[in-house]
Amino acid sequence: MKGIITAGGNGTRLLPLTKVTNKHLLPVYNRPMIYYPLFTLIKAGIRDIMIVSGAGHAGHFLELLGSGVQFGVRLSYAVQEEAGGIAQALGLAADFADDEKVVVILGDNIFEGQQQINAAALAFAEQTTGAKIFLKEVTDAQRFGVAEIVGDRIVGIEEKPAEPKTNLAVTGLYMYDHEVFTIIKNLKPSGRGELEITDVNNAYIERGTMTFQVLDGDWTDAGTFDSLLKANNLAATKLQETGDLK
Ligand code: G1P
Repeated sequence: MKGIITAGGNGTRLLPLTKVTNKHLLPVYNRPMIYYPLFTLIKAGIRDIMIVSGAGHAGHFLELLGSGVQFGVRLSYAVQEEAGGIAQALGLAADFADDEKVVVILGDNIFEGQQQINAAALAFAEQTTGAKIFLKEVTDAQRFGVAEIVGDRIVGIEEKPAEPKTNLAVTGLYMYDHEVFTIIKNLKPSGRGELEITDVNNAYIERGTMTFQVLDGDWTDAGTFDSLLKANNLAATKLQETGDLK
């Protein structure tokens, strides 16, 4: 399985922090933000990882992370010319994925509970088709993609609903078979003019091949001032205690 980290976007919710640098390079406790999703993938056994970043800052990721040799992995880079959404960024990795399944992680997502992720990655590597997403109970669900569950099935995801049907946020960790690239090719831009990862996930739900797990460990994104603060606290406390950061 190959890994893909999406690190594009303009980070407008963090201005002026993101005026001259990319959100995913901002400090989170003692390292740049992108180290956290990178380590999540590496610890899950992924050794071949592509970083898709926005134009303007792509060189900074290369300078920071290089070939990946310092982490014992191989890193590749792609440039998303405009902020066209997570699904568009993922689409740029189609050739890199080369028929393999992919584990996709958003560059501003920080996960505790590495063991659960490792086990899921191992299981997904054995699975021949389909997709898997990871949900987390939150108190501010309207900020996220929100899953609707009936019995033990996921029946739909709403992107940033004003009135969420559940408190289960869709986190920025996704596992897909190679069909994902065909799905992306057929996507239409959303109201905000982006190719939405939620539309990709809903396509798998419609096909009946989406599975999910609810995460036990803590999780946060870091795209707003409050969530960036939460990310710093999570990194400084729980990730140190559990050893998830080492
Ligand atoms: C994105 C996705 C959303 C998901 C979130 C997780 O939102 O669109 O479905 O819940 O990441 O961090 P964004 O924060 O990029 O708008």
